[in-house]
Amino acid sequence: MARFSSVSFARLLLSATGVLAGLTVDVSDTASVKAAAALVAEDLMSFYTGEIPGLLPGPPPDGGYYQWTGGALWTAMLDYRSRTGDTQYDDKISQGLLWQRGPNNDFLSPNWTASEGNDDQAIWGMAALLAVETDFTAPGVDNLTYATLAQNVLDELSTPSRRVENGSCAGGLRWQIYLVNTGYNYVSTLANVAYANLAARLSLQDGNNETQADSVDDTFSFLQTTGLIDSKFDVFDGAQSINCNEINKLQSSIAAALALESAAAMFNSTQGNQKWKTILDGLTQQTLDVFFPSGVAKEIACEPANCNTDMTFFKSFLHRSLASAMTLAPYTADKILPVLKTSAAAAAASCTGGDNDRMCGLVWSGKSNGQIGAGQQMSVLSALLSLLPTETVAKSSGSGTGTGSGNGTSSTTTPTGSSSSPSSTVGNAGAQTGVSAFVLIGSLLLTNLLFN
Ligand SMILES: *[C@@H]1O[C@H](CO)[C@@H](O)[C@H](O)[C@H]1NC(C)=O
Ligand SMILES: *[C@@H]1O[C@H](CO)[C@@H](O)[C@H](O)[C@H]1NC(C)=O
Ligand SMILES: *[C@@H]1O[C@H](CO)[C@@H](O)[C@H](O)[C@H]1NC(C)=O
Ligand SMILES: *[C@@H]1O[C@H](CO)[C@@H](O)[C@H](O)[C@H]1NC(C)=O
Ligand SMILES: *[C@@H]1O[C@H](CO)[C@@H](O)[C@H](O)[C@H]1NC(C)=O
Ligand SMILES: *[C@@H]1O[C@H](CO)[C@@H](O)[C@H](O)[C@H]1NC(C)=O
Repeated sequence: MARFSSVSFARLLLSATGVLAGLTVDVSDTASVKAAAALVAEDLMSFYTGEIPGLLPGPPPDGGYYQWTGGALWTAMLDYRSRTGDTQYDDKISQGLLWQRGPNNDFLSPNWTASEGNDDQAIWGMAALLAVETDFTAPGVDNLTYATLAQNVLDELSTPSRRVENGSCAGGLRWQIYLVNTGYNYVSTLANVAYANLAARLSLQDGNNETQADSVDDTFSFLQTTGLIDSKFDVFDGAQSINCNEINKLQSSIAAALALESAAAMFNSTQGNQKWKTILDGLTQQTLDVFFPSGVAKEIACEPANCNTDMTFFKSFLHRSLASAMTLAPYTADKILPVLKTSAAAAAASCTGGDNDRMCGLVWSGKSNGQIGAGQQMSVLSALLSLLPTETVAKSSGSGTGTGSGNGTSSTTTPTGSSSSPSSTVGNAGAQTGVSAFVLIGSLLLTNLLFN
């Protein structure tokens, strides 16, 4: 496997120099952070085979990674290039985003529609939006822009057909897109905050577009009225669409993070409006309190031992959103930056695993426990990048050359097998994709009606 290819060289080097194994970084030194980030990014990309362009190997059972993690990968790599200036992955980034864009330029490839949720689609939309924000070169096909891709996703997520029609959850975005999919009758907070995030950031790009800003307002009032975001600014997982008064109180860092970044974007586009400042301050404080016990990020719903593969990626979004908040609302840096520093230092210290002795761990309280994965790499990468200022990077070299021979319109329309079939058992439902797949844990605990 590619990720072990430099083993012997690394080993030789280590034994020759007597340097201790593991990633070393000085978090107060930009050059050191960049150098460490380059290694972590390289090790992250070693998981990307490109067999299906844009996706990490999967989705299960063909590999460990669900479709949404591809969107997460390009998000992290766009951050990497814009914060370090290293453009060596540009072709892979553009090829990946374009291959997955689907025939309608909305990141709903026929391959994955049977299992792709609103949250997943939104994450791909946000990856395209980040390409816009970081001036990544336009795709170079059919006059397409990354902004169009993001806008198309937002438009679809805005439609009533994606939402709960009536009752206490009325207006809420469902977890799943299609009635036949497990999770259709669940209102996922993550899907809703991802939608708000897309709208808020697009509004900034579009000169404070009021329609989009209104969508963010509506989403936050829905979440706050139902208590999916409560008065302490805890961000809870979701509720059955039949009853938004009965809340699944699991907390995931990715949902808090995307809510927080939405609020920061609204704070920015409204020139510091008090309503958004209150929400931003509340979410920032609670996010730091809940997800950074002793200053180091922790996925509290599952660490140390119960994280599924999806959950290993969440801390990537946690760090990148906090970094983004510092850009959009610079006053928040006083609170955020010191925590990002302690967290990034602990994150890097976990990178002692694998055959190259620098693969990163999931739990950041010491050395790696030996389990390696793309989520672990991505989370540490984002932690390191969150310490670097955003920089203006030269436009990517190719003009859409990354599209290669395929352009996403030629993909087969055959849905993939087992993960696509709606299921009535928890066992099969485990194969259901979706960022909120970990809600299964909560559902079991609450013995609620998700899989009736
Ligand atoms: C769809 O699946 C086919 C067959 O596995 C693959 O060749 C193609 O690249 C996939 N397309 C997308 C957009 O994932
Ligand atoms: C691309 O834009 C140019 C200039 O606006 C236009 O002439 C051309 O027809 C467009 N091509 C497509 C495929 O839309
Ligand atoms: C919403 O309306 C549908 C059809 O009109 C009905 O079957 C369903 O029970 C209603 N749901 C709630 C939560 O009121
Ligand atoms: C404003 O937002 C709406 C809804 O997303 C969108 O359809 C419209 O194109 C946007 N306007 C501009 C000028 O970007
Ligand atoms: C909005 O973001 C810009 C760019 O980071 C920043 O310079 C500006 O101060 C922010 N506005 C507010 C109100 O914080
Ligand atoms: C995209 O793929 C379709 C179907 O294979 C093909 O007809 C079309 O020429 C391709 N477009 C580009 C710009 O490569």
